[in-house]
Amino acid sequence: MSNLIKFKIDGNECMAEAGTYIVEAAHQNGIYIPTLCNMPGVKPKGSCRICTVKINGRLMTSCTTPVTDGMEIESNSNDINELRKSIIELLFVSGNHFCPACEKSGNCELQALGYLYQMMVPRFPYDFPKREVDASSPFIIKDQDRCILCKRCIKSIKDEDDRSYFAFHNRGNHLEVVLDKELAANMTKETAELAMNNCPVGSIIVKEKGFVVPIGQRKFDKKPIGSDVTV
Ligand code: SF4
Ligand code: FES
Repeated sequence: MSNLIKFKIDGNECMAEAGTYIVEAAHQNGIYIPTLCNMPGVKPKGSCRICTVKINGRLMTSCTTPVTDGMEIESNSNDINELRKSIIELLFVSGNHFCPACEKSGNCELQALGYLYQMMVPRFPYDFPKREVDASSPFIIKDQDRCILCKRCIKSIKDEDDRSYFAFHNRGNHLEVVLDKELAANMTKETAELAMNNCPVGSIIVKEKGFVVPIGQRKFDKKPIGSDVTV
């Protein structure tokens, strides 16, 4: 039984099923709210904060907050867009995201958001961290330089016993997402490809293949991120 409720985003009247997360409800109404750690089919975790909106003057993550009847949501305002831009800049300076040399260029959600929010040069100093590239798996190159610790691979890439191929390792500044070597030895090519596609950036690349579509013709090369949602 449907339980449609009304709410507003930036003054626009919207409708959705009660309990739908704001980010999804917005998409259903043709309004794009950016996401990075969130992905359809996986329980939201609210870790990257790029989807932040304002509700009753409070900043909330829209991927973890359900819509309620009469809710007034502010998303596309100068201060929220500025906040999102700073998050993108912080992600860029805390890793080594050299887009022209990255196999994910054109398919990378972080790069696409950098363009969308017109990031030129980050306002924060670069960390230039020294991180190892793990190429020990038969199918995958795990490039720690580009990992934004979003957990999408941990939550979505599992074997038939529901064991995750990826896991957190270390803490604090040394926190990283690593591939379980034992499980990875039995990973199929299809799973490796799914892992590459589910990673929003270029931290998981399938060995000897990468992306088949050439740079210049990829997902975000022609249309900005979010343009498939916005009406
Ligand atoms: S490898 Fe990719 S999907 Fe996994 S945590 Fe890092 S950025 Fe996210
Ligand atoms: S997409 Fe909502 S916190 Fe990352």
